[in-house]
Amino acid sequence: MDTVLSGIRSTGNLHLGNYYGALRNFIKMQDENNCYFFIADLHSLTTHPDPALLHGNVKNVLVDYLAAGIDPDKSVIYVQSDVPQVTELYLYLNMHVYMGELAKTTSFKDKARKQPENVNAGLLTYPTLMAADILMHNADKVPVGKDQEQHLEMTRRFARRFNNFYGVEYFKEPVAYNFGQDLIKIPGLDGSGKMGKSEGNCIYLSDSAKEIEKKVKRALTDAGPTEPNSVKPDYIENLFTIMRVVSTDEVIAHYEEMWNTCAMRYGDMKKQLATDIIGVTTPIRERILELEKDDDFLRKVAREGAEKARENASKTIADVRKIMGFKSF
Ligand code: TRP
Repeated sequence: MDTVLSGIRSTGNLHLGNYYGALRNFIKMQDENNCYFFIADLHSLTTHPDPALLHGNVKNVLVDYLAAGIDPDKSVIYVQSDVPQVTELYLYLNMHVYMGELAKTTSFKDKARKQPENVNAGLLTYPTLMAADILMHNADKVPVGKDQEQHLEMTRRFARRFNNFYGVEYFKEPVAYNFGQDLIKIPGLDGSGKMGKSEGNCIYLSDSAKEIEKKVKRALTDAGPTEPNSVKPDYIENLFTIMRVVSTDEVIAHYEEMWNTCAMRYGDMKKQLATDIIGVTTPIRERILELEKDDDFLRKVAREGAEKARENASKTIADVRKIMGFKSF
């Protein structure tokens, strides 16, 4: 069985795009792999989060993932900061990571532009910390989106460099977990190509039915088609794309027909779309509401996950220290 590791940003709640883009595949992955899911709260420090909000953010993400179907009986779920060994490995790896290569990382350049008042060393060494997360468990595969591919590439380079420098074959070079056909991209409701937190166009798994109805109602439309069988503008195609994911074949065929015959009533389509989205999110939302109150369970999951992660991590640290030449008196 392969070891798969996935790091999850501890900022913001999960939305429909996360669910179809990654989460649903994560749930399947659990049965075929030895999975680790962790919440990257140390990485979140690069943007100086309010201490009063830090724990709440971690809790939200943990609750969302558990509610959506990440199963602590199948996978190891932990909070990054509960495994201090990762910071030790980060330090060792940093000694073989160079200023120049870090400074030209795309994500670093982006962040430096977005927060010029806070270009801290943690931001610069973000890829090293991510490599430490991955190499800590000697993961074979890492599910990553486009924006994280460069980081994974750097992890491979750091692993190779460490092995070469010390003349060992210790770290594996992890590859991207490819979902291929299963990867579904959910567009925004505002005509944009992607549902995303920073785009502010999300339907969250924790949204109530009312909120979802309101958001779908506000989606961009127009006066409707004037010629039969015309090509749909992007913002209309987007609504159909979401419908193809959440609705039945009959419903989709019906609205395609309405479009093609210029009998489209967007009000009806939106009502149907909202109902079908609510159908997907309601069971998840109900579990979210239950889990939020169940601190005992959350504590148990986080504690047991951290214990398993630390077990692996201590072994890696002991090996790495030995390879590097540390010895106790
Ligand atoms: N950088 C990732 C993101 O922003 C989160 C992350 C941290 C991660 N460490 C990781 C992902 C290790 C995969 C493996 O989404």
